[in-house]
Amino acid sequence: MKRFHLLTAFMVLFPAFLFAGEGMWIPMLLQYNEKEMQEMGMKITAEDIYSINHSSLKDAIVLFGGGCTGEIVSDYGLLLTNHHCGYDYIQKHSSVEHDYLTNGFWAMNRGEELPCPGLSVIFLREMRDVTERVLEGVNIDTPEAERQAKIDENIKKIVAATEKETKYKVSIKPFFLGNEYYLLLNEVYTDVRLVGCPPSNIGKFGGDTDNWVWPRHTGDFSIFRVYADKDGHPAVYDKDNVPYKPAKHLDISLKGAEEGDFAFVFGYPARTNEYLPAVAVDQEANLIDPIMVDLRGKVLDIYNKYQEQDPKVRIQYASKHAGLGNGWKKWMGVTEGINHFHGVEKKHEYEGRFYDWVMQSRSRYMYANLLKDFKQSYKELEPYELAYTYMAEAGLRIELVSFAGRFVRLLDVTKDTPQEDIDRILYQLKGTSASFFKDYYEPIDREVAAMLLKEYLKAQPADFRPDFLNDIKDVDEYVDKLFAKSMFTDEAKVNELLDDFKPNKVKKLANDPALKIYQSLIGFYRNEVYSHISSLNNDIDRLRRIYMKGQMEMEPEKRFSPDANFTLRVTYGKVEGFKPQDGKTFRHFTTLEGIMQKENPDIYDYVVEPRLKELYNNKDYGRYADKDGTMHVAFTASVHTTGGNSGSPILNAEGQLLGLNFDRCWEGTMSDLIYDPDICRNISVDIRYVLFIIDKFAGAGHLIDEMTIVE
Ligand code: ARG
Ligand code: ASP
Repeated sequence: MKRFHLLTAFMVLFPAFLFAGEGMWIPMLLQYNEKEMQEMGMKITAEDIYSINHSSLKDAIVLFGGGCTGEIVSDYGLLLTNHHCGYDYIQKHSSVEHDYLTNGFWAMNRGEELPCPGLSVIFLREMRDVTERVLEGVNIDTPEAERQAKIDENIKKIVAATEKETKYKVSIKPFFLGNEYYLLLNEVYTDVRLVGCPPSNIGKFGGDTDNWVWPRHTGDFSIFRVYADKDGHPAVYDKDNVPYKPAKHLDISLKGAEEGDFAFVFGYPARTNEYLPAVAVDQEANLIDPIMVDLRGKVLDIYNKYQEQDPKVRIQYASKHAGLGNGWKKWMGVTEGINHFHGVEKKHEYEGRFYDWVMQSRSRYMYANLLKDFKQSYKELEPYELAYTYMAEAGLRIELVSFAGRFVRLLDVTKDTPQEDIDRILYQLKGTSASFFKDYYEPIDREVAAMLLKEYLKAQPADFRPDFLNDIKDVDEYVDKLFAKSMFTDEAKVNELLDDFKPNKVKKLANDPALKIYQSLIGFYRNEVYSHISSLNNDIDRLRRIYMKGQMEMEPEKRFSPDANFTLRVTYGKVEGFKPQDGKTFRHFTTLEGIMQKENPDIYDYVVEPRLKELYNNKDYGRYADKDGTMHVAFTASVHTTGGNSGSPILNAEGQLLGLNFDRCWEGTMSDLIYDPDICRNISVDIRYVLFIIDKFAGAGHLIDEMTIVE
C-alpha cells in the first residue's frame, strides 16, 4: 500500500504535525502508527496490541451488547463496561422491590450472578485485507448497479470459502466508503451475566444534566461475566457453563495518568463521517438535528413530568429517557459546535482547494462534477429525509403504535400457515408484550401522542404525509378515540389474543386503529419515501467513494483513517485538559471533592450516597488514592472516540488499564463530523475510582482479587 510508505517518509520530516489525536486506526495495520505512538510515549509494540500469532490486548476487547465496548479483566471472564451500557440489563432485573438502578447490585458469589437473555459479547479473532479480491472485476467506470452486484458476488464467494476453513463467524465490511474491504472472523458468546453495578447516583451521577459535559463526576461502570461451555466455546445459558478463560486479560494500573501522558483507546466506534461535503454537514447540523432535538425535547418534558410524580414510572421510563435524552443533547452540541467553529465554512474552503486541484490536470476529470453533484443530490434528498425523520421521531415514537407494529407478522397468517410457525410467532410476541407492559405508562403515551401528532401535522405538507394524518380533524379527540379503541393498551386483551389465536381473528386485528396507524406510516414510507432515499443514497455513496479517493490522491502524504463502522479500532492521543473558550481552561481530571460540591439532596441527579460521604469524610481511599492524596474520579484525553466507544478501555504507555471511556466534552461533540484536536476530548472514569467503589463502597473485594493490579 503506497500511501503508508509515503507516510513513513513524511513522518521523519514533519513529526510535530502528527501528534494530533485524530483518526480511528485499524488494529491489523497498526505497524504504520507504531513509530508515532512510541514517539508519543508508548512503550509496547503494535504486535502487543493486535496479533494473530500470539495473545495480544485485542483478545481482551469485546463488542458488548451490539452497541458498546467491554474488556476482560480476569482469567475468569470478568468484564468491565459502562453503567450506561449495562443499563438496559440492570433495568430489566429491576422492580420497585429489587431496585438495582437505585441501590446497585453486587453478586457476592458466582451463584448470585444474574443471566441476561439477549445480551451477547463478540470477540474479534482475526482480520484480513480482502480489498483486491472484493474489487476484482470493477473499476471507476463500472456502472454502479453492476459494480455492486459484482462486489456482492465476490463477497459471497470469499465468505463461503472462508467459512469452510474456520469455526468463526465470517463477515466482510467496506472501509474508506468502499475503497477498501476487510474480512472479520468473530466469535459470539451469549451467556453473559450481571455481576455488579453501583447505585445510579454513582453510576449515573450527574444524570442527563451532566451528560456530554466536562467537568464530570460519573462512576460510569458495571460488571459482567462471560460464560462458556467446559471447552471454552460459546454456549447458550446453562447453569453448568463455566467462566470464560480469555487468551489475555487487561492488567490494571493504579498509577493514574499525568497531563501529557500517552494514552490509547481500544474499542468499537460505531459511526463517524469525517469526509462529508459541506452541504451534507450543513443539512445534518442545521436542518435534521434541530428537528430531532425539538421533538425529543418535547417528549422528554412529558416523561419528566410523570417520572417526578411516581417512583414506579421513574423506573419504567428510566432507560427510554436516557436513550432519547442522549441523542437530544448530543445533537444540540453538534449544531452548536459546527456553527461555533465554522465547520461548514471550513469544509467549503477545503472543497475550494480540492476543486483547484482537480482543475489542474486533465487526468482528474472524474472528480470535476463531484461538488456540483453532491449539492444536487442532497437538495433532492431533503424532503425525503424530513419525511423519514418525522416518521421515526414523531409517528413511531408513539409507543402504542410501534408496539402494535410488532403484531403485523400475525396479519399474514392464513388457515394454511403451519401451526408450528404460528406458535413460534406467538411465543415471541408474548415475550415482546410482557416487556412492553412492564414499562408502559399509558398517560405518558397519550400525552406524547397528542403532542407529536400536532407537530407532525404542522411540519409535513398535506400532499406528502401518511394517509392517517389527513383523516385527523381534531388531534385530541383522535387520540382519545385511538386509546379507547385499540386493544394494544390492554395487557389482558393482548394476552387473550396470544393465548387463543386463530387465523380467523386476523381481520379484527387488522382493524385495530393503532395497527392501522403503523401500517399507514410504514406504507407511506415504503411507497413514497424509501425508493427515493435509497436511490439518492446510492448516488451519494458513489460520490462519496469517489470523493474519498480524490482526497487521498490530492494529499498523498496525509495518513487517512477510515470512518468508524463498528469494527475494532485503536485511537490515541494524550491525557490532557483543554481551553474551550478564551479565558476558560479545563484541568484534565476531577476528584471526589467535586461530587461533594455538586451534592444536592433535592435534585435527583446530584444525590450523594451516605456511604460514599462517609468514605470521603474519613478519606478512606486505601491504595486507590492518587499520589496527591485525593480520589480521582474522571479524566479527559485528546483521543478520538465516538458512540460505541463507551466502555472502551483507555490504556497507558504499557498497555495497562487507566479507565473506561464513557463520553465526550460538550464543545467537541461535533467530532463525528469534524475532529478538532484543540477542543475535542473524550471522558473516562478513572479505574482507581471504579476499584474504590467495588472494594471500599460495595465490599466486593473478591472481584478485585481476580484482577491483575499493578501498583
Ligand atoms: N453521552 C454518553 C454516550 O453517548 C453517555 C450516555 C449515557 N449517560 C446518560 N446520562 N444518559 O453514550
Ligand atoms: N457515550 C458514548 C457511547 O455510549 C461515547 C461517545 O459518544 O463519546 O458510546
